[in-house]
Amino acid sequence: MKSGFKILAIESSCDETSCAVVVDGRVCLSNIVSSQIDIHTRFGGVVPEVASRNHVTAIDNVVKLALEKANCTLTDIDAIAVTYGAGLIGSLLVGVSYAKGLAYVTKKPLIAVNHIYGHIAGNYLTYPELEPPFICLLVSGGHTAIIRVEDYNHHEIIGNTLDDAVGECFDKVARVLGLGYPGGPKVSKLAESGQANIQFTKPNDTLGLNFSFSGKKTAVINYIHKLEQAGQVIPREYICASFETWVVDELVEKTIKACEQYGYKKVVIAGGVSANARLRKELQEKSIAKGIECYVPKFEYCTDNAAMIGSAAYFAYRDGIGITDMSLAPKPNLSL
Ligand code: KG4
Ligand code: ZN
Repeated sequence: MKSGFKILAIESSCDETSCAVVVDGRVCLSNIVSSQIDIHTRFGGVVPEVASRNHVTAIDNVVKLALEKANCTLTDIDAIAVTYGAGLIGSLLVGVSYAKGLAYVTKKPLIAVNHIYGHIAGNYLTYPELEPPFICLLVSGGHTAIIRVEDYNHHEIIGNTLDDAVGECFDKVARVLGLGYPGGPKVSKLAESGQANIQFTKPNDTLGLNFSFSGKKTAVINYIHKLEQAGQVIPREYICASFETWVVDELVEKTIKACEQYGYKKVVIAGGVSANARLRKELQEKSIAKGIECYVPKFEYCTDNAAMIGSAAYFAYRDGIGITDMSLAPKPNLSL
């Protein structure tokens, strides 16, 4: 494959419309993200129909801006990449249709990318020297998993959530505390001014490398309701700090355990929750203490963005994977 291979990537799986131009999977020339957070905030979460309509409105301009910022025209682009799953069907459909249109008109190859491979690849953009194998802790609004990344295109899940994803749990706790959407950053911000001194009712953990977050969510909600019923003040900062610490401690402990169990000396985090300051700090500290190298993605590659899709697409295309055509259809429930 020639060096300087430029991919124009599109991501629209949830409520971010994004387009990026990425060179050789490692260098990001542009990464335009049009967020719909303000629109969905008033509904307290993403409304799928509203999300897809807003993708339609935004996508053309986002693609034009990405090309402009990268100082490119479509002629300079070698391939088009798009997220085809997992995600919201209507949202995915907008990106997939647009990418198919672009590929058809320009006669460039079309590469279909799994959103999760994209999240992992956010690290390849952050650390140009990073190569598999490594253990990846994937923490997003839809996933919580510990993954053995054997090479760029071969992964195995060795730990998974049995119910909710951790990001979903952050969002739910935020909602009950009246913090709004998206909850993760808001819980995290409030946690900075509280102390982790609340002991929620914690079940015995017999899950090995797996996780369960619905019980944690319920424990926090019950705690809040009891205080409300007793007419007491809700110590929001302390609740946030205690909840965040509980969750982060478990994520870090199990990730390090996975490294030890499977003999890995490198660990990576990926997904929206990897923007969490406590998680980044604790994983870095605990892995260094165990002689494990720790990689955390730049903030712009934590939450949904197209640059990570462009990076994953490059490694897939290089290995002859993901090359598709006009028959490409979105897969809302695509697994890893
Ligand atoms: O990866 P992402 O952008 O979308 C999915 O693919 O799901 O992740 C979004 C999730 C949301 O649940 C959001 O609350 C959470 O990531 N999140 C955070 C932080 N920033 C985003 N959770 C905890 N702390 C943060 N700083
Ligand atoms: Zn995501």
